[in-house]
Amino acid sequence: MATIELVNLTKRYRQGPHTITALDGVDLRIESGDFVSIVGRSGSGKTTLLDLTGLLLRPSSGTVLLDGAETAGLSDGRRADLRGRRLGFIFQEYNLLPALNVLENVTLACRYAGLDRREGRQRARQLLDLVGLAERLNHGPDQLSGGQQQRVAIARALVNRPALVLADEPTGAVDTQTADELLGLMRRLNREEGVTFVVVTHDLDLAGRTDRMVRLQDGVVVSDERLNAA
Ligand SMILES: Nc1ncnc2c1ncn2[C@@H]1O[C@H](COP(=O)(O)OP(=O)(O)OP(=O)(O)O)[C@@H](O)[C@H]1O
Ligand SMILES: [Mg+2]
Repeated sequence: MATIELVNLTKRYRQGPHTITALDGVDLRIESGDFVSIVGRSGSGKTTLLDLTGLLLRPSSGTVLLDGAETAGLSDGRRADLRGRRLGFIFQEYNLLPALNVLENVTLACRYAGLDRREGRQRARQLLDLVGLAERLNHGPDQLSGGQQQRVAIARALVNRPALVLADEPTGAVDTQTADELLGLMRRLNREEGVTFVVVTHDLDLAGRTDRMVRLQDGVVVSDERLNAA
């Protein structure tokens, strides 16, 4: 069972003569199967926390343990390798390749994840079916709604059967109803497929539907609640 552990994690940014402490001594342990939301005001450190957890950024001090193993001492290449094998990412902008259709976008990610052509196409179809896009395989991203594009991005995040999927404001660019549906999809993938999610959101209603809400304020975890999601 995979776990991610953040230990006394601090991130400072230098801005000319000033130093901004974006994250200040955060301890957090995320278990396999968790469905966690990270909330907090703009500038509270949510993206910084997510990017450190996803090994996209290096901490100023403290460490990230993946399955108990230290990641601080790893080279950039090893960290990229771990990201590719163990983690999935979803962002507010869907970042689909505009020249490729839906199936090709996900198949390409399967190729990057090391599946051969045949396996890749199979896995991509299966994932697109799972996110409700089986009827849209040949559409280009520009022929899809924002919600549908995000579903493609969600399918793409799952190609490597990640231990953990990190989502930064995944519903930030869609209307409330679509946001609701996307959260519902992630909820279902968590329950039925056992996908572990950490979701950054401004939306407290959405956060209330996860199993655990972590609140950041000025780079510090000020609350960490288990919710009784129905
Ligand atoms: N590359 C950077 N250089 C300098 N300061 C940064 C950098 N990235 C973030 N910060 C600062 O660190 C703090 C936390 O930023 P972060 O992006 O993590 O906040 P956030 O909670 O994700 O905000 P938002 O809700 O607006 O996305 C902010 O004060 C921000 O200005
Ligand atoms: Mg942010």
